[in-house]
Amino acid sequence: MSDKPWAGRFTQPTDKFVEEFTASIAFDQRMYRYDIQGSIAHARMLARQRIIAESDAEQIVAGLEAILADIEAGNFEFKVSLEDIHMNIEARLIERIGPVGGKLHTARSRNDQVALDVRLYLRDELQEIGGYLDRLQEALLTQAEANLAVIMPGYTHLQTAQPVLFAHHLLAYYEMFQRDAGRLADVARRLNVLPLGAGALAGTTFPIDREFVAEQLGFGGVTRNSLDSVSDRDFALEFCAAGSILMMHLSRLSEELILWSSADFDFIELTDAFCTGSSIMPQKKNPDVPELVRGKTGRVYGNLVALLTLMKSLPLAYNKDMQEDKEPLFDTIDTVKGSLKIFADMIAQLQVKAENMRVAAARGFSTATDVADYVVRKGLPFRQAHEVVGKTVRYCIEHGKDIPELRLDEFRQFSDLIDADIYDYVTLDASVNARRATGGTAREAVEREIARARAERRG
Ligand code: ARG
Repeated sequence: MSDKPWAGRFTQPTDKFVEEFTASIAFDQRMYRYDIQGSIAHARMLARQRIIAESDAEQIVAGLEAILADIEAGNFEFKVSLEDIHMNIEARLIERIGPVGGKLHTARSRNDQVALDVRLYLRDELQEIGGYLDRLQEALLTQAEANLAVIMPGYTHLQTAQPVLFAHHLLAYYEMFQRDAGRLADVARRLNVLPLGAGALAGTTFPIDREFVAEQLGFGGVTRNSLDSVSDRDFALEFCAAGSILMMHLSRLSEELILWSSADFDFIELTDAFCTGSSIMPQKKNPDVPELVRGKTGRVYGNLVALLTLMKSLPLAYNKDMQEDKEPLFDTIDTVKGSLKIFADMIAQLQVKAENMRVAAARGFSTATDVADYVVRKGLPFRQAHEVVGKTVRYCIEHGKDIPELRLDEFRQFSDLIDADIYDYVTLDASVNARRATGGTAREAVEREIARARAERRG
């Protein structure tokens, strides 16, 4: 006798390899808690609607709770012959409480069941991911506050451009992660509707109460079309898309941490706990964590593309193809969560080499724009000012001098609009602090943004 709930129509056993090939239990078992949670809500509704007896529902709920405890204690054998988490739990229920367990699947299909389980599971994971993202943002803010006096070179084309506060640079990432948090909240909001009740595809002939189930499971509402309910995986796609953007941000921060911790930049030091050594070169301390996170960004993009490709052109409603949604989704969850967790700690422990940053910021004529702005304020059109400073920089290069080192008569070769007060504008601090408008790098502007972020976080 077959142990499969659907064996009735079949005369021959499933080929062993086909059984393994088609099974999802190896990876969908992680949804066991949500499968049970959904089944309990369903059983209670069935009794409330008098579709099954109250006493039957009580036995079913007690049986499911016992199974949950068994799984949690490691006393549950997941069977490949039972294909997936749904049938494994249902078969065990019937084994435990007898034929009455077979009433649980009334007015339900695995198609709406799996859609429910994935939503419930992802909803909880989104909460956890949000928590880690929040910790990372907190670490960035704390580092920004602790390093408000630190000036670093700002770059375009990775060439020294203008000096900026290191805190300002960190807060750029704070902003990116704030948008990521918004995108994840969006996924959670759209995900939060109950698909159960769609049956296999067309709805059910039983007088179910979907709103009651939705309320018990904390959903904001119910899906409105049974065909869409069982074939929609937009929520998984949206999460993978939001996760890809988030990983893209982490990969950019990774890249900067890798550059900054190289001997050539030497702006920061990652604590030993986040690095490894080389088996041949004793001097090496490799930034493995940011390198791996940068690399893992690729697999998260891959998961998004896999899921998009999986769903492309699928006819309505459920297709077995869709069982392939889980591994890319689960891998994205694990990767994003792990990357955020490790980054939160790594950023919190970051050691900043303020003096090296300041020395680098002074190289590359980083205050040239400030000289141009100075002569513009004295009435010269910006294009001409650009020309004046271009010549000044060339003179500096030829004479091995930096802009603040020029004597007044040297400055005045290029424009007689330049007076002694030029020296108040060409220092690193003056350059940074002149950029006071909202979103600029001046210390007061950065302090305002930190205060705003702090207030935002207090809610
Ligand atoms: N394991 C299946 C999946 O993950 C559950 C739904 C199966 N439905 C079916 N009609 N075979 O998609």
